[in-house]
Amino acid sequence: MKLALAVSLLLLPFAYAFEYLVSVGKDETTGHSGIGFDPSVIYVQGVGDVIVFRFNNGTHSVVESTYENPCTSKGGYDSGVETLPPSTPVDSAESPRRTVRLNGTDPLWFYDQASGQCQRGAVFAVNPPKDKSPAQFKQNAASDPGTSRPSASATPSGSRTASSPIVATPSHPTKNSAEKIVAFGLTALVGLIVPCTMYL
Ligand SMILES: *[C@@H]1O[C@H](CO)[C@@H](O)[C@H](O)[C@H]1NC(C)=O
Ligand SMILES: *[C@@H]1O[C@H](CO)[C@@H](O)[C@H](O)[C@H]1NC(C)=O
Repeated sequence: MKLALAVSLLLLPFAYAFEYLVSVGKDETTGHSGIGFDPSVIYVQGVGDVIVFRFNNGTHSVVESTYENPCTSKGGYDSGVETLPPSTPVDSAESPRRTVRLNGTDPLWFYDQASGQCQRGAVFAVNPPKDKSPAQFKQNAASDPGTSRPSASATPSGSRTASSPIVATPSHPTKNSAEKIVAFGLTALVGLIVPCTMYL
């Protein structure tokens, strides 16, 4: 009984994890396909939250960088390159997606590497702290020459190693319009409580 309760409580945080849907190659001010991320800033709750990157027309890749050098890969997360035909409607349900599971609430910084539009504002911030504003992040991007994409651009999209602070997993189809879905971990919680009640 005590054990069952303790284990259930341990799992509670995961029951309230969120899913954040972020469009890549979309102008958040116009809502059309274009330069940037929509939204370009999110504030996440913590461990177990997931970001789903949804790709738009053109060639894009989401790569982790730093606040100081927004257009330079830090050797962390890399979604791999996605290229979609120009006819692809914005935020198409059929568009490729990449899911990133978050490991905590530390700030994370990303840019769109394959489009080469980082300096023009194709950057994305997760949990920017007060002293590192999204506006300043974009300004830093404008003056960061960045590095040209390494030969990895020719390889198929891949996921990072387990040592990376964030772990890429294959994307799943998700509810289309929901920006924030309380979904993650609910099944895990139910799956745990049910066997635990057997001890009661
Ligand atoms: C594809 O992207 C370009 C620029 O990014 C945009 O002008 C065009 O409207 C987009 N196509 C569709 C169908 O949204
Ligand atoms: C990710 O989790 C590991 C293990 O708990 C921890 O050592 C590491 O600091 C975490 N990274 C981030 C960015 O939260």
